[in-house]
Amino acid sequence: MTQPGRYKIAVLPGDGIGSEVTAEAEKVLQAVSQRSGHEFEMEHGLVGGAAMDATGDPLPPATLDLCHASDAILFGAVGDPKYDDPQAQARPEQALLGLRQEFQLFANLRPVRVYPALADSTPLRREMVEGVDLVVVRELTGGIYFGQPRVEGNERAVDTMVYTRAEVERIAHLAFGLARKRRGKVTSIDKANVLACSRLWRRTVAQVARDYPDVTLENLLVDAATMHLIQRPRDFDVVLTGNLFGDVLSDETSVLAGSMGLLPSASLGVDRFGMYEPIHGSAPDIAGRGIANPLAAILSAAMLLRHSLGLEKEAQGVESAVSQVLSAGHRTPDLAAPEGASITTQQMGQLVIQALTG
Ligand code: IPM
Ligand code: MG
Repeated sequence: MTQPGRYKIAVLPGDGIGSEVTAEAEKVLQAVSQRSGHEFEMEHGLVGGAAMDATGDPLPPATLDLCHASDAILFGAVGDPKYDDPQAQARPEQALLGLRQEFQLFANLRPVRVYPALADSTPLRREMVEGVDLVVVRELTGGIYFGQPRVEGNERAVDTMVYTRAEVERIAHLAFGLARKRRGKVTSIDKANVLACSRLWRRTVAQVARDYPDVTLENLLVDAATMHLIQRPRDFDVVLTGNLFGDVLSDETSVLAGSMGLLPSASLGVDRFGMYEPIHGSAPDIAGRGIANPLAAILSAAMLLRHSLGLEKEAQGVESAVSQVLSAGHRTPDLAAPEGASITTQQMGQLVIQALTG
């Protein structure tokens, strides 16, 4: 039995459904605390549109200070239609990119599992998706997201994609290390038939692979990969890719699970510090109605327990509570609950806590 620890968690609910789902994840962490004896000091900070409303800045210095003083960040979502103006200087999304860069969170883990109870909630046939268990490892602090964008009047705009060998090496090592603990396969996805960055990527990944003779390496071009992920999703174990392709492919893989509302993520750097967030956005269309699925946020809290606090047993406890609730048939509206049978955000959170403590 590990000694009870004390941990500080920066909670950044953000915009739209971010605050609704994060509230449930926080309650789950409180329940974990009561059961395990570990103390979680959770302090809230402003981020995204909510921070712009209050301070004009999507990522105010006070929020950064709070994050620096914490062991991990539990993040909700950012984005608000009111700040969608393409001409605007400040945008809520900058907060997310700013946090990734500030803490050098270069590795984004997006696990996708198909729960047996939900294999009929996807647009694909049950026999295609049953048993899918993959994790997208997306490089998060390089590539075209962090080039030097330039707008030349109304006629031209330039983004640059840059990858260094060192950046590819560190994310590749992480992916191969992870594959070793899973089913021993890495699929690296690039566009090496066109992009110089992708050729560097492919060469470097092949070199890193030599350190992991027990792991199989497969290379796919990104266009073909979009098909393979739908046609044979069960064949994938660890999907390793760059920032932009990872953004696109991770939304695609989320379809396999039945709902964006189920998928958590972890953004990690060189040490234990990390940021944890659902892969879904702020969903302004359903915000404020109490119907958002909190499971992605709750599963993100489980990843926080695992990766930043080293509480593996507690993380598994939360994950198995979520499985139990889904197996028992409870559904928020995003999971195609039959008419009149769906439950609210808070009810879902409560059921997870009951399964955890029951
Ligand atoms: C994601 C999101 C972000 C990204 C946006 C909100 C900046 O789509 O985390 O996948 O593009 O990385
Ligand atoms: Mg995205």
